Amino acid sequence: MDIVKGKVAIVTGGSRGIGRAIAQKLYNEGARVIIGDIMDANLDEGQSAQKKGASLAYMRLDVSDGNNIKEMIQQVVNEYGRLDILVNNAGIMFERLMEDTSEADWDCMMNINVKGVFLCSKHAVKPMRESGGGAIVNIGSIEGIANNPEHTAYATSKGAVHALTRAIAVDEGTRSKIRCNSVCPGWINTELNEAYFDQLKYPEEGKKAIEKLHPAGRMGTPEDIANMVCWLASEEAGFVTGQEFVVDGGRMARPTLADFGSMEKSDAI
Ligand SMILES: NC(=O)c1ccc[n+]([C@@H]2O[C@H](COP(=O)([O-])OP(=O)(O)OC[C@H]3O[C@@H](n4cnc5c(N)ncnc54)[C@H](O)[C@@H]3O)[C@@H](O)[C@H]2O)c1
Repeated sequence: MDIVKGKVAIVTGGSRGIGRAIAQKLYNEGARVIIGDIMDANLDEGQSAQKKGASLAYMRLDVSDGNNIKEMIQQVVNEYGRLDILVNNAGIMFERLMEDTSEADWDCMMNINVKGVFLCSKHAVKPMRESGGGAIVNIGSIEGIANNPEHTAYATSKGAVHALTRAIAVDEGTRSKIRCNSVCPGWINTELNEAYFDQLKYPEEGKKAIEKLHPAGRMGTPEDIANMVCWLASEEAGFVTGQEFVVDGGRMARPTLADFGSMEKSDAI
């Protein structure tokens, strides 16, 4: 299909998980993709080689460091000549009650999850405008809309990402021809969530309980998110901006019953 053919795209936090799937999907659809991450992307030769004009490369990026962001985006423009797509995906998550969340914890979450999106977008706007416009896709979360327990800092950061999305869309629409949307993943199987199951007493039962929360009957995959991000980044979504797109297998459509074990219907009925 090649829906982003020839576009130059930066994906932050693209070395693993959801970001890696987004980078791969944009590449498969014809884009020249640069992964910006604190962790090496370990691209193999096949992946970093150019294929039908598409390419996949890695540059070191810490989204909490404004100077690093500015230099990285400048390097992309110098090497690729333009910038069309920015996917603000890099993010962290921890579980802590509000009273156990230190000021340093809070600052760390906000620096990466919120200030990172602000700074990357701020420095991307000018080169995008000079390229004739572009698309910014922010990875928010269903937790920017509804809250899991002990997620004060995380949920606040994602709510801020959704608000920032609308602000960018409003200010940069006519001014810079930039569209901006957020994708709100539900439960997606990544290393971030594997770590959550690993700390449970009964990880397999925990996984089954989570699956039951989903009308789609399964947890999400990074590719489920990548498909939506790629479409939003493409010109097929040319009239779509300032919105939140929930990709969660229907989880938010269903109010949760307290205890799945005890709520199952008896075979006798
Ligand atoms: N996994 C889920 O269920 C889920 C659900 C909703 C939202 N999200 C969001 O999706 C995004 C990706 O999540 P994931 O599950 O793939 O996480 P992950 O931990 O598997 O990957 C995150 C990536 O971001 C990078 N990163 C972290 N801090 C960085 C920094 N300062 N600068 C640059 N890169 C940095 C990491 O090195 C890593 O490659 C996050 O924003 C997360 O909040 C995930």
